[in-house]
Amino acid sequence: MPSLPNDRKKVQVPDLAVWKAEGRRMTMITAYDVTFARLVDEAGIDMILVGDSVGMVVQGTSNTIPVDLEEMAYHVRCVARANTKALVIGDLPFGSYQISPEQGVESSIVLMKNGAQCIKLEGGVHMADTIAAITRVDIPVIGHIGLTPQSVHRMGGFRVQGRTEGFEAGGRERILEDAHAVEQSGASAIVIEGVPMELAQEITQKVSIPTIGIGAGINCDGQVLVLHDVLGLCDSKYRFAKHYADLRTSTVEATQAFISDVRSGAFPDDAHSFH
Ligand code: KIV
Repeated sequence: MPSLPNDRKKVQVPDLAVWKAEGRRMTMITAYDVTFARLVDEAGIDMILVGDSVGMVVQGTSNTIPVDLEEMAYHVRCVARANTKALVIGDLPFGSYQISPEQGVESSIVLMKNGAQCIKLEGGVHMADTIAAITRVDIPVIGHIGLTPQSVHRMGGFRVQGRTEGFEAGGRERILEDAHAVEQSGASAIVIEGVPMELAQEITQKVSIPTIGIGAGINCDGQVLVLHDVLGLCDSKYRFAKHYADLRTSTVEATQAFISDVRSGAFPDDAHSFH
């Protein structure tokens, strides 16, 4: 068992600005339940994102669009019960903030009441008023720009953004504008997903708030990955997602060993039975 940094202090939103100033690289990983939240916290992760990726890795949806606010509130509650040292971020799902800034504030309040310390939402220029409204009531916001999964249909799939010049959605200059809009609206950090590493580096140098990359290269202030990718639980292999374990194989093998023991009569043995 590796040594666990359990004595660390609770991560708070203002720590992110301090860490950017210090040049300390930040770590974020997703979790959706208490068991994994406890484990990634014990490992020393800085931030746990209760992401709407729960749709794809837990619920079996093909994108994040179907996930709703009640489901996110439930998963935020599960993760918050782990009572972690990590900062807990609740992800606003599609349809819970796009209608108006007021709707964004109301939905953020739901996630905060369920244990989030901060919320994340997708979008830049068009979400500026919403981010400003949420931060105005003292709910910290993390923005999300570049490949924004809730825009899957506009993008025509999960495609790298910012490879073309221009101010149209997905264009390089537009993503730079999005980054500035998120920063100026009062967000505490920005997730940058699926953009060329040179663009992510330029954003990281130009904005004062931390950038957390996923598929955005080494030069962001921090990195985020989906837990199921890190653990190798899914059979899909994305270029940007490194598998640090092969729990898919371990899970199949452990289940096969159980099936075999039951069928052969080897389980339960005396050590696993009561007298
Ligand atoms: O929902 C999620 O897991 C995310 C990350 C991919 C950043 O938004």
